[in-house]
Amino acid sequence: MGKLSMAAMLLILMFVSIVEAQVFDIGKYGGKPNSDIAQALTSAYKEACASTTPSKVVVPKGTYNLSPVKFEGPCKAPIEFQIQGTIIAATEKTTEPSWVRFSHIDKLTVSGGGVFDGLGPKAWGRCGKNAYCKNLPINFCFDFITGGLITDITCKDSKQFHVNVLGCKDLHFVRFTISASGESINTDGIHIGRSSGIKVIDSNIKTGDDCVSIGDGCSDITVEKVTCGPGHGISVGSLGKYEKEDPVTGVTVRNCTITGTMNGVRIKTWPDSFPGAVSNMHFENIIMNNVGNPVLIDQAYCPWNQCNAKVPSNVKISGVTFKNIKGTSSTPVAVKLACSGRFPCQGVEIADIDLTYTGKEAPAALSQCSNVKPKVSGKMNPPACSAPISAN
Ligand SMILES: *[C@@H]1O[C@H](CO)[C@@H](O)[C@H](O)[C@H]1NC(C)=O
Repeated sequence: MGKLSMAAMLLILMFVSIVEAQVFDIGKYGGKPNSDIAQALTSAYKEACASTTPSKVVVPKGTYNLSPVKFEGPCKAPIEFQIQGTIIAATEKTTEPSWVRFSHIDKLTVSGGGVFDGLGPKAWGRCGKNAYCKNLPINFCFDFITGGLITDITCKDSKQFHVNVLGCKDLHFVRFTISASGESINTDGIHIGRSSGIKVIDSNIKTGDDCVSIGDGCSDITVEKVTCGPGHGISVGSLGKYEKEDPVTGVTVRNCTITGTMNGVRIKTWPDSFPGAVSNMHFENIIMNNVGNPVLIDQAYCPWNQCNAKVPSNVKISGVTFKNIKGTSSTPVAVKLACSGRFPCQGVEIADIDLTYTGKEAPAALSQCSNVKPKVSGKMNPPACSAPISAN
């Protein structure tokens, strides 16, 4: 080996040792399989977070129990949680709003192939059948994270929402799996609020409520190559129920497959609402398999009759495209664009829609529109806005 290449080798070795993260294995902090590792994980995190070089908290293979934990930053350097094991929620009643909460961390990675099992079905029994369970913990809360990657992790059977993203910037979910029964109640997959630069990519979501829901104050959100179902589909909103909601702008949902869900892709706003704005929404290259209401703008979203559906919504919707959406609808109305009578939807485009109704009672799927004049192109089955809709 010549002098130059030796020097190069040394440089490479030095570089590798610099970027190699320092490891904080929970075993060193007393964490053992089949026991509650909350204490060990918290201690490992505290030391890792104080490290001035990149750190890695490791939960090795094995099954562990975990009572609610909070990982609060800021940390001194990037931090990774490498979860190889299966972590099971404590079954005791808790008043914590979250099971695992990460907050105020810059450059957070959660990876490793591990599973977080929230044991939801054990908690729901306590609330009575079909009753909405209040005050149950969310499996994962990400609050004010900047620059993060959640990858190769399974989040299972949360007692409530699986993941809540609040006030985050540039947080990516890649090869992330959510798994819960279609009958589970209020178990949204990933709810995103007041965040920007959030991506959900190459992921698989099965649950009892929205697979992904996007609330007020969001911008630059991408949902790509996600399979959704069972569940309630991929939603923007609901919006307009609360005062002073920030606009939602820049949402792209593409190359997704939605199967057996209650809805497909939708934007929902409350009638008789506070002002709000939704703009720059793109839904494209989506396969629908036996999906109810595959394409839906619903500006009279009024569950449990909590509102006056006859008074129009004050949320303005503009710049929405639905392109290349194909497959089957389990409801006769395959496309419904029900916009506000006070603020008709602006700049709506639909292109290359091919949806057929799988039911017996009607021969053809329907497309209904109100207070919107979409620009139409490409194949259009059912014909755009060909069926009447009751005013709202
Ligand atoms: C998304 O789907 C379209 C149409 O099926 C395809 O042409 C495109 O390559 C896909 N993009 C990605 C990123 O998979």
